[in-house]
Amino acid sequence: ENTLGAAAAQSGRYFGTAIASGRLGDSTYSAIANREFDSVTAENEMKIDATEPRRGQFDFTAGDRVHHWAVQNGKQVRGHTLAWHSQQPGWMQSLSGSTLRQAMVGHINGVMAHDKGKIAQWDVVNEAFQDGSSGARRDSNLQRTGNDWIEVAFRTARAADPAAKLCYNDYNVENWTWAKTQAMYAMVKDFKQRGVPIDCVGFQSHFNNDSPYHSNFRTTLRSFAALGVDVAVTELDIQGASPTAYADVTKDCLAVARCLGITVWGVRDTDSWRPEHSPLLFNANGSKKPAYTAVLDALNSA
Ligand code: G3I
Repeated sequence: ENTLGAAAAQSGRYFGTAIASGRLGDSTYSAIANREFDSVTAENEMKIDATEPRRGQFDFTAGDRVHHWAVQNGKQVRGHTLAWHSQQPGWMQSLSGSTLRQAMVGHINGVMAHDKGKIAQWDVVNEAFQDGSSGARRDSNLQRTGNDWIEVAFRTARAADPAAKLCYNDYNVENWTWAKTQAMYAMVKDFKQRGVPIDCVGFQSHFNNDSPYHSNFRTTLRSFAALGVDVAVTELDIQGASPTAYADVTKDCLAVARCLGITVWGVRDTDSWRPEHSPLLFNANGSKKPAYTAVLDALNSA
């Protein structure tokens, strides 16, 4: 096969990208995105500040633009994200306690009702653990509402859209030896044991010089899958775009039956949130980089 999406489909997986609604009018961008990818994540448009700018007043304009583009072009959609400490609208940032808890539940219900049955996977909770060696939860207004905020988010989400796979999504959790990875593992294990509805774990996979790709990523994916959840690479980018590292990530997903697919976090280097890292598969002018060929070859030789 000669596109990423078609090559991934040979093993029943998808190959996706983050889409920024403001770039869809750029024909180079949209042509590559449409040709190569069969799954779409809105880079910012389905986040809390975008979808509920005022409490109880939802705005789905930008998110729908991304969703409609995806559906019109035959692509599935990953929803990103319902409960997160970052990109909260001002009204939510100032809430705490039971009022914030209610607002979180109301937000999940409002957004998931709008997209009910139309989202393959939702990142229900994003980035709830601290970096470093503590293995602790990240301090945030949501965390301060009580340690059970994550399971409440998942139970709310299951009731709101039983068709969507419900994911926990985080970064710096790809290296099996890291405390953050082990803390996330303990949470997922506990959720599965207690029947908290979680279906998948998203590994963002923002690899850079401080947090490089490590070959034990495959052990991480396998270990989580063994708990009875699907896994996915959800926001892949690699500083410098080493073809070897890109191929290795691809092979790691292909080696794990429950790895649903891979999403890269943007199309061209210039579309990246870290353009100075040149971390993606396409150059500024839209041409394929060596990393692209490495990924395509890995998908085709599976
Ligand atoms: O839209 C406004 C614009 O109106 C304003 O003039 C401009 C001035 O700063 O800001 C624009 O918003 C920016 C937005 O991207 C859209 O471009 C925000 O400042 C900027 O902070 C925001 O960055 C996003 C970042 O999440 C924020 O947390 C990145 O695009 C997005 O790629 C990044 O994605 C995250 C994932 O959601 C979660 N995992 C990590 C990943 C990378 O940080």
